[in-house]
Amino acid sequence: MGILEELSSIVAQARQEMLAAADMQSLEQVRGKLLGKKGSLTALLRSLGTVSPEDRPRIGQMINENREKVEKLLEEKRSELASREKELRLQKEAVDVTEPRDLPEIGQIHPTQLVLREVLDCFTGLGFQVVEGPEVELDKYNFEYLNLPKNHPARDAQDTFYVEDNVVMRTHTSPVQARVMLTQKPPIRVVCPGRVFRADEIDATHSPVFHQIEGLVIDENVTMGDLKGTLDAFARKLYGADITTRFRPSFFPFTEPSAEVDLTCFNCRGKGCKMCKGTGYIEVLGCGMVNPKVLEMCGIDPEKYSGFAFGIGLERITLLRYGITDMRLLYEGNLRFLRQFRG
Ligand code: PHE
Repeated sequence: MGILEELSSIVAQARQEMLAAADMQSLEQVRGKLLGKKGSLTALLRSLGTVSPEDRPRIGQMINENREKVEKLLEEKRSELASREKELRLQKEAVDVTEPRDLPEIGQIHPTQLVLREVLDCFTGLGFQVVEGPEVELDKYNFEYLNLPKNHPARDAQDTFYVEDNVVMRTHTSPVQARVMLTQKPPIRVVCPGRVFRADEIDATHSPVFHQIEGLVIDENVTMGDLKGTLDAFARKLYGADITTRFRPSFFPFTEPSAEVDLTCFNCRGKGCKMCKGTGYIEVLGCGMVNPKVLEMCGIDPEKYSGFAFGIGLERITLLRYGITDMRLLYEGNLRFLRQFRG
């Protein structure tokens, strides 16, 4: 067979094999068989030496032209295969975003925290600043600055967890009052939410760990009327415009005079029902005018300044807010119960 026939048969075969190549790997094989070191076209070029000198340029040129043609074909086939492979990969990796799936469990805010947000919202709206204090507290802040010296009988009412002689789990948020008065100058307007601890048995209305929101206002000419107005605004904001406060005389060593405050029962709106034991009112907080002795101990001149303070039981007002009858429900972590409350 002459060299030119051989050339055309090699090219024809290569063309067929290329068309048949289904992937990059088989295309590479075709290329090797043709143009590799031992490839058929490479061998043909080498055999050019056996051709007579006068035919050599013409035949050489034809072989080269055919090689270029073959290379161009290879390149075309290569890009065709590449785009096909890419398409297949995209098909395989495609995600059906409409396919239904299991939704992740989404958490939600605990009812006490929902109510706390409302309370803080109310007081910050009245110009109060939010301040926090430590849960493990020094005896002097929890008691002494609050006019509860060692051996004061009122300490017995607080069933304290002692950590050391002078370190306690705070029994109320009132120590934050002392911390604020010792570090800030009047006018003072703060609310202090936080966890408090008492050695109490757990029942429907008690827990050894619960929450309070302390309030403290100190300025010139602050009166009991300001205290009443502030607590009325709070009650109406949380429970509705028809809710009022009722002050009953009480005693706290750090306020004078002191009061316990009831709100109109949210359930019967004052008519009397089971929740308020027929009285039309429910007790929610303790308060009073800051005892001048406390002001003095905390470095504030009682001749110039006066103030009021209050301590709200967060669990208490949460139960009232939602009509829950047992405080333990707030701590048990029962999701079927907790999921009912959304902000
Ligand atoms: N600290 C008091 C308590 O826990 C409540 C209170 C706070 C009373 C502020 C008066 C003023 O019972």
